[in-house]
Amino acid sequence: MSEYLLAGQESEIDRLRLQSIVWEPAGRRLLELVGDGRGRRALDVGCGCLGWLRLLSDWVGELGAVLGSDIDTKMLERAAGLAEEDSLVNVRLMYDDLFASGLERRGFDLIHARLMIAPLGRAEEQLTSHLALLAPGGTLVLEEPDCASWRFNAPAPAAERLVALIGEAFDAAGGDFNAGRSLPALLHDRGLTPRVRTEVLALEHDHPYLRLPLQFAAALRPRLLELIGDEAALDALIADAEQELTDPERWGTSFTMVQCWARTGGGPVTGTR
Ligand SMILES: C[S@@+](CC[C@H](N)C(=O)[O-])C[C@H]1O[C@@H](n2cnc3c(N)ncnc32)[C@H](O)[C@@H]1O
Repeated sequence: MSEYLLAGQESEIDRLRLQSIVWEPAGRRLLELVGDGRGRRALDVGCGCLGWLRLLSDWVGELGAVLGSDIDTKMLERAAGLAEEDSLVNVRLMYDDLFASGLERRGFDLIHARLMIAPLGRAEEQLTSHLALLAPGGTLVLEEPDCASWRFNAPAPAAERLVALIGEAFDAAGGDFNAGRSLPALLHDRGLTPRVRTEVLALEHDHPYLRLPLQFAAALRPRLLELIGDEAALDALIADAEQELTDPERWGTSFTMVQCWARTGGGPVTGTR
């Protein structure tokens, strides 16, 4: 795929910021299992406008260092602003294409990449890049979605149709919205001993993430139009979904975030569940 599926839009920056915030508790739980990060060097690949920067900043502490990398300069600018607002003094940001990375080989104790395989669909190349940058004994953490739990109660046919179209748009662009399911096998095939956990969010009617199908519909509009082929039909679907998702009786569950991690250079990752 030559161009990143969701590149360069204000709506995408807002979506990623919300996404980072809603998944922060899940990330914190995972880092507790990885162990003590004080003084470590951590990299968040494709950090977007926030990603794991706050979590990693806390995890490595004042003696550690966090680098956030991305190829979208608008995202990096926004990330720099948020890092400054939150006084994340151990966080730096850098333009770096993960597929032609200029970062230090074996330079990081922990590398995290979230929601990268799903849109980019280049899992093997991505993994090769991460493994080259990890120090011996370092930890790789990947987080990717599995769509199966993304549901509304009572059923919301228009929103569910949008969810299905979003999955098709990812497929058509060479990605995979269910990339999370393959993570353990992917790491295992590289000789690693992966651990896996999952998180699903309950989305009450006023939770902004309940509206994720609408946010995606904005970010992916040209792709959805290609699939539906009719602007009026897409607008009608979005309007119906909007109405369904503003119903105060309705709630939902998010897609499943599959969290998979492994330590390089031998044995299983330590830590208790
Ligand atoms: C779906 S977003 C996920 C952002 C962040 N990881 C998070 O979970 O909030 C994907 C991010 O990957 C970045 N990206 C796309 N291609 C990239 C590449 N080749 N190298 C580094 N970052 C890339 C995009 O600019 C975007 O910020």
